[in-house]
Amino acid sequence: MLVSATEMLKKAKAGHYAVGQFNINNLEWTKSVLLTAQELNSPVILGVSEGAGKYMTGFKTVAAMVKAMDEELGITVPVALHLDHGSYEGCYKCIKAGFTSIMFDGSHYPIEENVAKTTELVNVAHALGLSIEAEVGSIGGEEDGVVGAGECADPEECKMVADLGVDMLAAGIGNIHGKYPEHWAGLSFDTLDAIQQKTGIMPLVLHGGTGIPEDMIKKAIDLGVSKINVNTECQLSFQEATRKYIEEGKDLQGKGFDPRKLLAPGAEAIRATVKEKMELFGSIGKAND
Ligand code: 13P
Repeated sequence: MLVSATEMLKKAKAGHYAVGQFNINNLEWTKSVLLTAQELNSPVILGVSEGAGKYMTGFKTVAAMVKAMDEELGITVPVALHLDHGSYEGCYKCIKAGFTSIMFDGSHYPIEENVAKTTELVNVAHALGLSIEAEVGSIGGEEDGVVGAGECADPEECKMVADLGVDMLAAGIGNIHGKYPEHWAGLSFDTLDAIQQKTGIMPLVLHGGTGIPEDMIKKAIDLGVSKINVNTECQLSFQEATRKYIEEGKDLQGKGFDPRKLLAPGAEAIRATVKEKMELFGSIGKAND
């Protein structure tokens, strides 16, 4: 069931768990995430970066695929189709294409411009029933061409952006896209605590979910994180399973070259990763809360 992310995140915040955002790259990814959410009765957010949207030939294709798949698979759990790290133009494209949620990443604009553009997009999104995420501070590392220095968000700025009426707020707290470096300092819980105190019931978003130790994830949820984004970890699971299939020579046996066989272990591996994350985030069984 395609919905905006607003209600599921309000419930997650009140219930002290987090909803996973799993970024999708193609049909197999989408199917794996949807089937796992349905099996585990969990709400879920499908994240689409601008790069992934382009890869899948455009946001219209993505929205049409997700809508049709949701229907054909008989998905009844709440599913939000969300633009990840959207540009101003990308947000409008996704709104037109039929996404149910957008993220406007205005973190690289001067704060006044970020505020003006965010306010405009909040009004447009809400008038059409979409949810909207904004970002303060920046997420370190690189994701599909979006590069961030990784500075921690200023809690005052978070309050100001939260007051613009966004439905969820991504705040940099030392998190990084992609794999974490060996001597990573960890999440800044002091920053997160200060942000949560300033922003109250606002669902907070933790990007860079790949590779954050379990105890840190749990503490972040305790301190108000209600949405956690995972991208790289599903890619790594897919890669590992596909590599194993080929290294074992299975693609050379019988009809092992059939893409439906060749991609099956990777798709199963994504399901296992999504399940593991949903268990950790506490969203299992929460679809009908
Ligand atoms: P990872 O690729 O580190 O899991 O981050 C995902 C993310 O934050 C998507 O916006």
